[in-house]
Amino acid sequence: MSAEGEPESRNVPDQLLYLDNAATSYPKAPGVVEAVVEHLRDIAGNAGRGTHTFAAMADRLLWETRRELGALFGTREATRWAFTLNATDALNAALKGYLRPGDHVIASPLEHNAVARCLRHLEKTRDVKITRLPYVPGMGVDPNDVARLVRHNTRLVVAVHASNVTGEILPVRELALEAHNRGLTILIDATQTAGVLDLPAEAWGLDMVACTGHKSLLGPQGTGALYVRPGLELEPPRQGGTGTQSERDEMPTDWPEAMEAGTMNGPGLAGLLAALRWLRRKTVRAVREDELVLMRHLIAALAEIPGLHIYGPRKAEDRTGLVSVNIGDEDPAWAATELEAQGILIRSGLHCAPWAHQCLGTLKRGTVRLSLGPFLTADDIDRAVAALARIAAVAVGVR
Ligand code: ALA
Repeated sequence: MSAEGEPESRNVPDQLLYLDNAATSYPKAPGVVEAVVEHLRDIAGNAGRGTHTFAAMADRLLWETRRELGALFGTREATRWAFTLNATDALNAALKGYLRPGDHVIASPLEHNAVARCLRHLEKTRDVKITRLPYVPGMGVDPNDVARLVRHNTRLVVAVHASNVTGEILPVRELALEAHNRGLTILIDATQTAGVLDLPAEAWGLDMVACTGHKSLLGPQGTGALYVRPGLELEPPRQGGTGTQSERDEMPTDWPEAMEAGTMNGPGLAGLLAALRWLRRKTVRAVREDELVLMRHLIAALAEIPGLHIYGPRKAEDRTGLVSVNIGDEDPAWAATELEAQGILIRSGLHCAPWAHQCLGTLKRGTVRLSLGPFLTADDIDRAVAALARIAAVAVGVR
């Protein structure tokens, strides 16, 4: 940052290649920008507050967005989708709203800090006990371990659908079966997979699913959602106005109002609705097929670069559209700077998931992470691979 607090301008080529879609997707789905602008320009209302035309338009937009989320995740009850700021907010609402003092939680070893830090906080404040499922490099997570680790006070299994560090997909359907066999609730973090991998929440018996709007759902930042199956009640994350039962000074227990105190992010959700509609027309299957083509190409090409180490599964089918690598013993920040000098934007270092970095042995330096989006082409992949090959050659040969 400069002295004035403005980001410093960097000397990068005109033709930028954005490969940091796991942090936030860019570009967004067609129609998202227009929907946000249209909402700000033409829909002045606050959903559920007042009965006038604008308020009704804003309200309808929220319900349509809930219904689109339900269609995407195979859930029937739109009221059980509560909007949140992002996935972290959704996961905090789920964990803090569900866990009671003294509960035991079984967590996947690849959890992001959205779960890990929240659990550590609950460990301190509610004496919640945490057990991490073992991680075997090359094998990942074994759902059968749930049975071995369950205790008399275990109430929850929490797992990320795919790691934001390795991209590997976790066996969440099998984890849900194991959890339910033992009377446990399951919470899935779909931050990196919503819109790319199918996650039929009802069919797979998922009790709670958290997602964000701004990554693979291709919507704006500041949007997220939490699904909680009918019959499972949570403590509300906050108290405030809902536009319903306003004669009472206590939070309503009806959903989604119980989970949505305060004004929702109307413009952001208008953008998310446009993204969800685009995705429904395109289909998750088609997005995933395109991603697999690029990922097969990327992994195969990266494997040919001397001195470059790839973390996580070798088969594209076992991962989402991201890959973490390291070049020899080099600092990932150096690789990121070199890539940016060639116009390629990636994330380097630690990716807010210390448990996952412990599993990989990269807690000290982190990784160089490339993450794809649905508008990239094989030429983009070739450009990234060529740049990494040049950097690796410098690292191995000269430095
Ligand atoms: N959790 C996001 C990432 O992986 C921000 O980059």
